[in-house]
Amino acid sequence: MKVLGMTGSYRRNGNSDILLKEALMGAEKAGAEVEIIRLTDYQIQACQGFGLCLFRAEGCHIEDGVKEIWTKIGESDAVLLSVPCYFLESTAILKQLLDRGWVLAHRGTFRGKYASVLVPYATRGWIPYAMLQPNIFFGILGFHVIHRAAFNVQGLGEAVHDEPGIEKAHRIGGELVQAVRDQDPTYRSEPGICPICQDWNIRILQDRKAVECPTCGVRGSLTIENGEIDVSFDPKALAEYRFDREVGYNHFTYHIKPSKDYFLRTREERKERVKKYKSYLA
Ligand SMILES: Cc1cc2nc3c(=O)[nH]c(=O)nc-3n(C[C@H](O)[C@H](O)[C@H](O)COP(=O)(O)O)c2cc1C
Repeated sequence: MKVLGMTGSYRRNGNSDILLKEALMGAEKAGAEVEIIRLTDYQIQACQGFGLCLFRAEGCHIEDGVKEIWTKIGESDAVLLSVPCYFLESTAILKQLLDRGWVLAHRGTFRGKYASVLVPYATRGWIPYAMLQPNIFFGILGFHVIHRAAFNVQGLGEAVHDEPGIEKAHRIGGELVQAVRDQDPTYRSEPGICPICQDWNIRILQDRKAVECPTCGVRGSLTIENGEIDVSFDPKALAEYRFDREVGYNHFTYHIKPSKDYFLRTREERKERVKKYKSYLA
């Protein structure tokens, strides 16, 4: 069994590295072969929004380091992602990579693989979106996420002082291997408010009659009992969360695919209308 460690921090031997390496040691102890890559060592170009990549056998046409990252993920049974919180969310390199995952998400290339997420952060209350990009990344790619853990560590390399944190990271690595071995996708970290992505972000819908988990697109209603806020999600809505395989298929078939016909049908008219913008500030 192979576990791939991916770090989303530029800082060598920083907190993401330390926690990730400790988790990989746990995975290795549990019997896995391990490898580590730094996303910042790869050239990851922005998605060019080509769109037609979805319809072509060769997929994305951009030649850069991303193909090698996908190959490494493809050769692994599980991924341990360690990505620090920078300005309330993940470092930008993860978003850059995730945008490039469209073809693989659509094809379900990695669906059913396993992952866990480690997030070092410095300031309590400054991590509201830190799990958002990891959740979208593993959500679109169809991974089972076993752990999502945040670690409160500030200065360069200070994670080494956080003994409970180190012990936790080690355990997370071992449990990821066990989950793959048992083919058991049960979530093992602290639960969040959304039973799918386990995050705490809830959005109030404009009609003010319902709330939703913005990541999973699942609606529910807000309840307050004995001063305690809760959200009750409709089980049918939970089954149809944004990254579910069938929902993804329907999104492609009824939303993206028909847009191609419209795009081709209106091409000539668009050429005319766009002239004004092409010549302006050219
Ligand atoms: C540009 C920048 C922005 C940051 N923003 C946040 C933040 O919004 N919330 C937070 O808790 N920590 C923030 N931090 C602190 C890091 O998350 C923290 O130091 C982490 O341990 C760094 O991990 P690393 O050593 O792997 O890079 C920020 C750090 C930097 C450099």
